[in-house]
Amino acid sequence: MALRTILSYPDPRLHTVAKPVQAVDARIRTLIADMLETMYEASGIGLAATQIDVHERLVVIDVSEERNEPLVLINPEIVWASDEKVMNEEGCLSVPGIYDGVERSTAVRVQALDADGNPQAIEAEGLLAICIQHELDHLLGKVFVEYLSTLKRNRIKTKLLKAQRDVQREGGRSA
Ligand code: NI
Repeated sequence: MALRTILSYPDPRLHTVAKPVQAVDARIRTLIADMLETMYEASGIGLAATQIDVHERLVVIDVSEERNEPLVLINPEIVWASDEKVMNEEGCLSVPGIYDGVERSTAVRVQALDADGNPQAIEAEGLLAICIQHELDHLLGKVFVEYLSTLKRNRIKTKLLKAQRDVQREGGRSA
């Protein structure tokens, strides 16, 4: 297993649309293990392959308190989403330090393959439903800040670009 580098907004690669996983083979199993390790290390509740610059339809999620209930969704599709919506404060490992309100369906039904390549159907509500919608957006090249106003999004872009430049400069000095 290995930690993977998480892309940071506004990296244009985050807007890539992922392609279906063709076969759940050794390569995909390694990818799943790496994504779980990367998500847990970063204290995230979800990670999409897009965020580590792999553009295939694969996400890992764990919304449990104990961090011991990993959920792997391969080629996930939302087959039903409730009309009822809820506004929730969201964050994202690719948008560090930024949290803002996004409206999502309160419940969803998802079909996907599991880590063994077997079909699974999931009914989710609450935080899990929100997390699934957030991660599946990543596979479509969509980051949650795109739900915010242009003004807010531009402020976030400026702030993150400045932070990324500062990190690069620090690196340059110590090298
Ligand atoms: Ni995210």
